[in-house]
Amino acid sequence: MAQTEPVKLRVLTMKDLDAVTEIDYGLLGTKRRGYWEARLESLETSGVPSLIAEVDRKVIGFILGRASGWEYGIPENVAWIDTLGVIKEYQKRGIARILFKEMFNMFKKVGVDTIYVFVNWKDWDLLQFFDKMGFKRGDMINLELKI
Ligand SMILES: CC(C)(COP(=O)(O)OP(=O)(O)OC[C@H]1O[C@@H](n2cnc3c(N)ncnc32)[C@H](O)[C@@H]1OP(=O)(O)O)[C@@H](O)C(=O)NCCC(=O)NCCS
Repeated sequence: MAQTEPVKLRVLTMKDLDAVTEIDYGLLGTKRRGYWEARLESLETSGVPSLIAEVDRKVIGFILGRASGWEYGIPENVAWIDTLGVIKEYQKRGIARILFKEMFNMFKKVGVDTIYVFVNWKDWDLLQFFDKMGFKRGDMINLELKI
C-alpha cells in the first residue's frame, strides 16, 4: 500500500485501545484487548508519553516506553522501550524509526542516558530494528526459573 500522506505522531491514549489491539493482533495473531487495556491504563505513570503514528488518520504504529524517576529505588537516568509495532503494510518505510527517534528525544529531555529493551532472541524483526537504532548487548543478564 502506498504511503500517500506524511506520518503524524501524537500521544497514545486509552482511545487508541482498539487500534493498538488490532495492530498487535495483526502482528502476533492473538487478540489481547484485556492485556492492552491494563497496559494503557498504566501509561500515566510512565514519565514520558507513549506515541501513535498515523497516516491519513489511520493508526499504523505505536511505541510504549517509560522513564525512571517514577519508581522507587530505580536510578533516574534509565528508561525502557516496552514494545513497538507497525502494521505489516507500512513496515520498512521508516515508521518505527520515526517513533523511536521521538521517544529517544523525549527520554533525553528528561535526563535519561541509558535505554533498555528486552527482546526475544528469536524475534528477528525487532533485533534487526534495534541493532539499526544503535543498541548493543548490555551488562544485564536474563535469569529465569521454571516452576
Ligand atoms: C520491528 C518493527 C517495529 C520495524 O518497523 P518498521 O517500521 O518496518 O522499521 P523501519 O522501517 O523504521 O526500519 C528502521 C531500520 O531498521 C531496519 N529493519 C526494520 N525491520 C527489519 C527487519 N525485519 N530486518 C532487517 N532490518 C530491519 C530497516 O531496514 C531500517 O534500517 P535502514 O534505515 O538502514 O534501512 C516491525 O517489523 C514490527 O512491528 N514488527 C513486529 C514487532 C512486534 O512483534 N511487536 C510486539 C507486538 S505489538
